[in-house]
Amino acid sequence: MNHQPVEGFSKLSKQRKIDWLISEYLSNDRSYEQILQQYWNNSAELQKLHEEFSENTISNFYMPYGIAPNFLIDGKLLALPMAVEESSVVAAASKAAKFWIDKGGFKTTIINTEKLGHTHFIFNVESHKLLHFFNFSLKKKLLEATEDITSNMRKRGGGILDIKLIDKTSEMPNYYQLKASFDTVDSMGANFINSCLEQFGKTLRQEVAESTDFTQEEKDSLQIVMNILSNFTPDCIVRAEVSCKIEELNDDSGISNEEFARKFKQAVTIAEIEPFRATTHNKGIMNGVDAVVIATGNDFRATEACAHAYAARNGKYSSLTHCTTDNGIFRFWIDLPISVGVVGGLTNLHPLVKFSLALLGKPSAQELMSILAVSGLAQNFGALRSLITTGIQKGHMKMHLLNILNQMGATEEEKQYFVTYFKDKTVSHHEVISEFNRLRAQ
Ligand code: MEV
Repeated sequence: MNHQPVEGFSKLSKQRKIDWLISEYLSNDRSYEQILQQYWNNSAELQKLHEEFSENTISNFYMPYGIAPNFLIDGKLLALPMAVEESSVVAAASKAAKFWIDKGGFKTTIINTEKLGHTHFIFNVESHKLLHFFNFSLKKKLLEATEDITSNMRKRGGGILDIKLIDKTSEMPNYYQLKASFDTVDSMGANFINSCLEQFGKTLRQEVAESTDFTQEEKDSLQIVMNILSNFTPDCIVRAEVSCKIEELNDDSGISNEEFARKFKQAVTIAEIEPFRATTHNKGIMNGVDAVVIATGNDFRATEACAHAYAARNGKYSSLTHCTTDNGIFRFWIDLPISVGVVGGLTNLHPLVKFSLALLGKPSAQELMSILAVSGLAQNFGALRSLITTGIQKGHMKMHLLNILNQMGATEEEKQYFVTYFKDKTVSHHEVISEFNRLRAQ
């Protein structure tokens, strides 16, 4: 069937949007409307709140919200909120937390908290002339012009840290940047940074127009291409680590402590040198990071983009975690660049986000960075521990069992039967189905 474009969709009421979708795409089958309605909140007020987060909302998309307890982080015992649909993530986090709790737990260090943004512009002038103009006039004007925007942030201890002129003309003709660094304290700071940068763009245009340093032809060549924060924040970075004596590893998977440490280090080294493995290795890390990022109302696309850009910072995509086994000590750590907030955005709006932040003891943005790095490290520890011992499928399929059974319409009694049936066996899709059919045939 050929569909017609729709005009003014965003202006239609929610009901009219649904009616249109059902008639245009869903063969007028009204049962689809019930699916959408099932996920509306009973409280009209809460439903409205969710609808106002985003344009054209017709329902809510739920994700399981789980808890991974027993995380000892810098001496504090925390229960981490995790919003994630992948069945084994929360279980793996909980297991890793428990593993490290009696070995000193996780230690973190904030290495830096600097965020970045750029005004990208084209200007056909000699670089030295522009540099002189920037140093002796423009930089001061940029700071003055943003004083109103930065005043609240300055009161909270943040603001613009520095502005640099960057010459990019060797990579693209006449391309320069105003590269600014920011401290956004407890907010992620995207709106703050972008507002400052947009003002930089305006001030640059105005100051060039009024300057006597440039010819009219040069002035006419100025083009402000865009003003935008960078999600790559290599200097907004936290380290999380665990360590213990190799002899204290005491893994219960049946291999010796020495073999565990050796195989674990090999697995990390493979991720350091092999991008195909590094991608999956880091994906597993982000299972842990994103689940807490989402539960705390932060932007997981930003944290993903940043982590992967950082993993490729030396020109070859590599592991975010590292491991040493020197002098009888097993040490495992992550350096995670991550920009998050605990004020602004969804943090004061979404009730579950408020719950998550309260559960974590109302952390500062820096404390949240630490928690996120720990969540990523724990998740990676859990994945590698399985990979070098039992393999990943044993635990993964155990958690996936209920998904398979739900798909087959199993009753609660049947689910219980299968949990017992697979207690000491590795779950396989094939075996669940044949045992299910056998059971039903009886
Ligand atoms: C699955 O979501 C993540 C893993 O593949 C990560 C890894 O292989 O390290 C288990």
